[in-house]
Amino acid sequence: MVKIPEQFSLLYSAEDIDRRVTELADEIGQAYAGKMLHLVGVLKGAAVFLSDLARKLPIPTTFDFLAVASYGDATESSGVVRMIKDLDDPVESRDVMIIEDIVDTGLTLKYIEELLRSRKVASLTKCAFLDRPDRRKVKVTMDYVGFTIPNRYVVGYGLDFEQKWRHLPAIYAIN
Ligand code: IMP
Repeated sequence: MVKIPEQFSLLYSAEDIDRRVTELADEIGQAYAGKMLHLVGVLKGAAVFLSDLARKLPIPTTFDFLAVASYGDATESSGVVRMIKDLDDPVESRDVMIIEDIVDTGLTLKYIEELLRSRKVASLTKCAFLDRPDRRKVKVTMDYVGFTIPNRYVVGYGLDFEQKWRHLPAIYAIN
């Protein structure tokens, strides 16, 4: 087991996460019963959540990934989002769900939502493992959220600080 720094405080254990992802998968499975869902994960943060969610979903899925970056330092986004890696496959006429690790300012999600809508998806929903509404800069409506968190920087379960700690199986707030 990796040593956890003293400045980290546990917000959600691996068991809390497992329970919540199971609930989300059941809810999404009911909403999409009889359909094929195309999951679009936002690299790198959402990779861990997407792989857990996909394995719990009771419906067939396909998945693809894109990567975006916002100019700015590690913890403060500048607001300008740009594409680093586009999707491999077309999304036209598909039922698509964007999978995010965390919605913070909302700028990333807004950019991706507009991009996918312009590609004429059949339907589009948004699912984030974490939501931190206090720091929102643009309005985004969420369809599925794992946990709503207070205004603290978090790591683990895919989320990083300077590219580290993504591998932790729990979510920690950095003090
Ligand atoms: P937004 O565009 O400000 O909503 O944030 C987009 C991205 O910033 C997220 O997808 C994360 O990759 C990253 N991010 C925001 N807050 C955190 C955090 O607390 N920990 C790790 N990454 C974060």
